[in-house]
Amino acid sequence: MRYVGAGVLASAVGMDKHFMKLVLAGQGLPVAPYTVLRPGEFEKNPQAWTETVAGLGLPVFVKPARAGSSLGISRVDDLADLPAAIAEAQRHDPKVLVEAGVVGREIECAVLGGRGGSRPRASLPGEIVVTGADHAFYDFEAKYLDEAGVELSCPADLPSGLVEEVQDVAVRTFEAVGAEGLSRVDVFVTDDGEVVVNEINTMPGFTPFSMYPRMWEKSGLNYPDLIDELITLALERPTGLR
Ligand SMILES: Nc1ncnc2c1ncn2[C@@H]1O[C@H](COP(=O)(O)OP(=O)(O)O)[C@@H](O)[C@H]1O
Ligand SMILES: [Mg+2]
Repeated sequence: MRYVGAGVLASAVGMDKHFMKLVLAGQGLPVAPYTVLRPGEFEKNPQAWTETVAGLGLPVFVKPARAGSSLGISRVDDLADLPAAIAEAQRHDPKVLVEAGVVGREIECAVLGGRGGSRPRASLPGEIVVTGADHAFYDFEAKYLDEAGVELSCPADLPSGLVEEVQDVAVRTFEAVGAEGLSRVDVFVTDDGEVVVNEINTMPGFTPFSMYPRMWEKSGLNYPDLIDELITLALERPTGLR
């Protein structure tokens, strides 16, 4: 059976934030510093782990390795809150990532596979601006419940050199995980213009209001043409061991 979405390997890598970071860092893509807590490790030696986490600098983001929609993610500004944040993440996945907080704008870029083996294509980037005072970051409520508290602006107001840099990082991220068809690459852009990959979503939200189709619309590819393009890519793809 042929399918429109991303490859199985890409899904597996993209869905485990730990493996995703290993693959990206291994190919020279910039990711935030982090540490991994495997099941039971923190509980065995909380003091040593707290020191390791302190070494990342505060705030840190504590995340389940395999989840989504910001579920189980906490921003920790005070190390006293670390055990509770780890316990919360563990409710979603026994493997937990603790990541250095990146100060920067949240920028997303839609990537489409290339036709006939050509380079994947990147859309104009969009930006997530969390405006609601109740949200310390782009959390579950900001994503799905508090429409007024978040602004999705597309195209993002970035200097032209940075647009190309985000697009290049997005395409290299897509290729690094062996993605196929479509993916949304989410990055941070820091004040000094550094692009840091937050994650790749190998099956991004795809309602007409979602960022993925909206970014393509702003890039000159409307919703029906985007669907056509994805079907063409799927038909072009040879069947293989997946
Ligand atoms: N290292 C980080 N620095 C700053 N903010 C972060 C960091 N990691 C996550 N966030 C915030 O948390 C949100 C959700 O994290 P993310 O890793 O994208 O999880 P999910 O897969 O659930 O979307 C991000 O959109 C961002 O607002
Ligand atoms: Mg995300």
